[in-house]
Amino acid sequence: MLVNLKTILEGTRKDARAVGSFNIYSYETIHGVAAAVKKSGKDAIISFGASYLVNMSLKTVVAIVKEVADELEQNVALHLDHCTDINIIKNAIDAGFTSVMYDGSSLPFEENVKNTKLVCDMAHEKNVSVEAELGSLALGEYSNETDIDHGQAYTDPSNAKEFVERTGVDALAVSIGTVHGMYKAKPNIRVDILKAIAKEVSIPLVLHGGSGTPQELLLECIDNGICKINVNTEISQYTVKKIAEKIAEEPNTHLSKLTLLTSDYVSEIVYKYIDLFNNCK
Ligand code: 13P
Repeated sequence: MLVNLKTILEGTRKDARAVGSFNIYSYETIHGVAAAVKKSGKDAIISFGASYLVNMSLKTVVAIVKEVADELEQNVALHLDHCTDINIIKNAIDAGFTSVMYDGSSLPFEENVKNTKLVCDMAHEKNVSVEAELGSLALGEYSNETDIDHGQAYTDPSNAKEFVERTGVDALAVSIGTVHGMYKAKPNIRVDILKAIAKEVSIPLVLHGGSGTPQELLLECIDNGICKINVNTEISQYTVKKIAEKIAEEPNTHLSKLTLLTSDYVSEIVYKYIDLFNNCK
């Protein structure tokens, strides 16, 4: 069933568990996430980055996701990831997305507050949830999010409470040392900053840059207020490697078979994360 982000994250902080948010770019990747949801019996967030509008239109994404969500017993939210353009956010809400992320992380605090509040007012009227970001992530290796590389800036815990109160946002993405993409050096995840933010803010906290983050650190973050974890690069890395192996093994594989296998590979890596996030205690 298709629900909004607020619904899917309900109770997650209390239960110390996280819902995985998986980036999709095609029919095959949507079906891969849906298969992992079905196999695990757990909810998940299907996340479409505004930068992937070159791959699929908003309407196409909504049509495919609605079809797969209708066939699932679990809850699925359809989320617009990292969007700096309020017009695209409006189009996503009109098209049927149930959640949007306004990314004002590169803006001065007051401007981020003003724009995020505007998006919240517009989205909440249609029962669509809003995620926003305070602080920004560095860019790691193999990431596709080059357009949102604002450099590393840790979230200031003292701003977080004011930001949430003034905007009415449903979930807050925090910057505590994860990177978009794979790590170039040993990760330095500041759980102390996360704890300080969690003390100030009771809404679900979001961790971007899940790929390559050591499992024990992800679990520690979940224990300390992270309720949504985004994974993108690793889905691509894993799937492309498996496709390359398949082609090396059977160079004449028909494309129709390869598209089905793509969904299977996506499902394998997504399942790994859903399982991790839900058995964290
Ligand atoms: P990774 O590519 O590091 O998994 O990050 C994904 C992400 O945060 C999408 O918003």
